[in-house]
Amino acid sequence: MSNPIIIALDVESAAEALSLVDRIGGSVNFYKVGMELYAVEGPTIVRELHGRGKDVFLDLKFYDIGETVKRAVAQVARLGVRFLTVHASKAVMDAAVAGRGGSDLKLLAVTVLTSVDRRDLEDDGYARTVADLVELRVKNAMAAGIDGIVASPLEAAAIRAIAGSRAILVTPGVRSAGAGHGDQKRVATPAEAIAAGANYIVIGRQITRAADPAAAARSILREVGGARHGNDEGSLIKRAEPPSSPQSGH
Ligand code: C5P
Repeated sequence: MSNPIIIALDVESAAEALSLVDRIGGSVNFYKVGMELYAVEGPTIVRELHGRGKDVFLDLKFYDIGETVKRAVAQVARLGVRFLTVHASKAVMDAAVAGRGGSDLKLLAVTVLTSVDRRDLEDDGYARTVADLVELRVKNAMAAGIDGIVASPLEAAAIRAIAGSRAILVTPGVRSAGAGHGDQKRVATPAEAIAAGANYIVIGRQITRAADPAAAARSILREVGGARHGNDEGSLIKRAEPPSSPQSGH
């Protein structure tokens, strides 16, 4: 059975990250490495995770001139990373798609950061609402050949309607009922996120700061067990696949 959980390794060292991964064991095989961990460990942490049979989502949200994005994405693809985020600016996305070439790397677009509100957009010179800008950027992402979108679970259904059934929707901001929210303000439960159309849910602290991270992961898996869309199975990664094997769906 495929597994929709991606665990965010928001920790400060490879030692801490790998000890968590080892404690979690076979319950989850997909991990998100963000800017903090990558800044200190670089590609070594990606190789360590691959060495343990884990898939890697590199959440570096690339945004730069086309040539730089293209060359950097090609390097990430060579590492055997499964998912990479880029900002949903047209030129950035076109360059990312060119850099990914024929590799298995899936590109996810970040539309508007969930920390941004209308006032922030005005400050940055945008005359649109957040919802309008998200819609425009999702359309541009799909037109550019981007594989999926990172979205709040509260926006997932609207984004699914624009992006279509083949887009990979990945939702952070997910918490089980009763779990602490941390600094997340707008959250949905894992089952709600999947029901809204998410293919993958990114969960950090609810698992990584649990007394028993493996048990916390298993409990979330049980929660989503009944909420999965049968017709989305093809776009979920099969747990047994090694990092460089062919994709089964999208
Ligand atoms: O600990 P928690 O489950 O809140 O972690 C969520 C992860 O998803 C973090 O790595 C965070 O940076 C990321 N994320 C998010 N909200 C977004 C985009 C990414 O929480 N809109």
